[in-house]
Amino acid sequence: DQNKFQAIISHCKEYGFIFQSSEIYDGLSAVYDYGQYGAELKKNVRDYWWKSMTQMHENIVGIDSAIFMHPTIWKASGHVDNFSDPMIDNKDSKKRYRVDHLIEGYADTLPEAEKTALIQQMEELLKGNDYPGLKKLIEDNKIKCAVSGTVNWTDVREFNLMFSTQMGSVAEDANEIYLRPETAQGIFVNFLNVQKTGRMKIPFGIAQVGKAFRNEIVARQFVFRMREFEQMEMQFFIRPGTEDEWYAYWKEERMKWHKSLGLDPARLQYHDHAKLAFYAKAAVDIEYEFPIGFKEVEGIHSRTDHDLKQHQQYSGKKMQYFDTEINQNYIPYVIETSIGLDRCCLMVLSEAYEEQDLGTPEKPDSRVVLKFPAKLAPIKLAVFPLTKKDGLPELAKELMADCKKSFYCYYEEKDSIGKRYRRQDAIGTPFCVTIDHQTKEDGTVTVRYRDSMEQERIPLASVKEMVMKKILE
Ligand code: GAP
Repeated sequence: DQNKFQAIISHCKEYGFIFQSSEIYDGLSAVYDYGQYGAELKKNVRDYWWKSMTQMHENIVGIDSAIFMHPTIWKASGHVDNFSDPMIDNKDSKKRYRVDHLIEGYADTLPEAEKTALIQQMEELLKGNDYPGLKKLIEDNKIKCAVSGTVNWTDVREFNLMFSTQMGSVAEDANEIYLRPETAQGIFVNFLNVQKTGRMKIPFGIAQVGKAFRNEIVARQFVFRMREFEQMEMQFFIRPGTEDEWYAYWKEERMKWHKSLGLDPARLQYHDHAKLAFYAKAAVDIEYEFPIGFKEVEGIHSRTDHDLKQHQQYSGKKMQYFDTEINQNYIPYVIETSIGLDRCCLMVLSEAYEEQDLGTPEKPDSRVVLKFPAKLAPIKLAVFPLTKKDGLPELAKELMADCKKSFYCYYEEKDSIGKRYRRQDAIGTPFCVTIDHQTKEDGTVTVRYRDSMEQERIPLASVKEMVMKKILE
């Protein structure tokens, strides 16, 4: 449903969640900025992931490694030689396409059976790195360039997705370095530092959240595919031979985490990889049904000892662990969980977004509501004095002062209560509290619930505790 997807993008912009980067200069393609509510949402998702990985697992710790790393790391990891996608250029428009995106985009316009057959053919060719075959598939189907409408294609070629830059002044022996395309390598190269200083015993994990950069050749997919994005990754170090059981464990654990975000389980599915990334023994995606269809949000990868072994070879430093239980030295195997924070936010936004028709033929009415779980909502509580006088703002501000130490609150005294409710619905605030004249008499307030729109009177003194309880659910 492209319309719903477009509606979500517009809503994100209109209500301060996500803006196109450098908008006043006509934007920068596939780069986005988070606004006041988007930044809060993103922080809440990030914190929730971080807590569920580190605080909730006694054998997982978190680190924060630098974006810049020694260039040899990317040689060792295989990214210099292998982190590329087959691309094709249209000779007339000079537009470059990722071959799989180009073919998938075309396949989407076909009847279901033809689409499946074409995708299958493409996957076979991709698996065999058959570039002439891919070009022929594009030509046989007369797939056109979206810009020029022509079918004048170059050969299929590989393009590396890493961004590079120079470290140090160019005059003095400049060193080409890369912006990291994944956060995982920062974990691998710190494996021994963390294991030794944290006295970690296998099995244990290291988690990290941070920016990653890829020179994606993209179609317009909003924050689903960006050139600068954030990853939340965890490498779980294990004894060789136990990888299949830990792979199964993390596959299930991560699905449980997604469900704990309040997502409809029917919109979540696994997708086993037929074509494996260059480092993986097995890989599965967790996919979510966005308005544009089921798409990957997270990958769980069985990475064997590939990365640590490569770093041992390239750095000349031993990457071994001494396992006291079996009296053996070995290079640990790794199960990785890797999720895109931006994609995760888009998933939460897609699930939360609802357009509701609340009207009657006589009195049309509608609202857009973001039904975020309270723990992820940018603002937890809105506080409204009914009027600007009679001491009501003072009472409301007292409640604000008490609550804002514990969670994000919003104060507003302008416009009718109804309008104020709708503005909070649009940014997903789960609770609104109105202070009125009765509050002065009996110490109660009206609490209005976002999803049901129901209202009830509760003691002013219990508001903070009620919200706190919901945030922890
Ligand atoms: N360390 C393993 C790794 O990076 P990946 O499948 O290439 O694996 C992991 O990426 C996750 O990062 C993806 O599932 C996706 O959520 C996110 N991701 C990857 N490329 C992205 C992009 N260009 N924009 C936004 N998110 C992206």
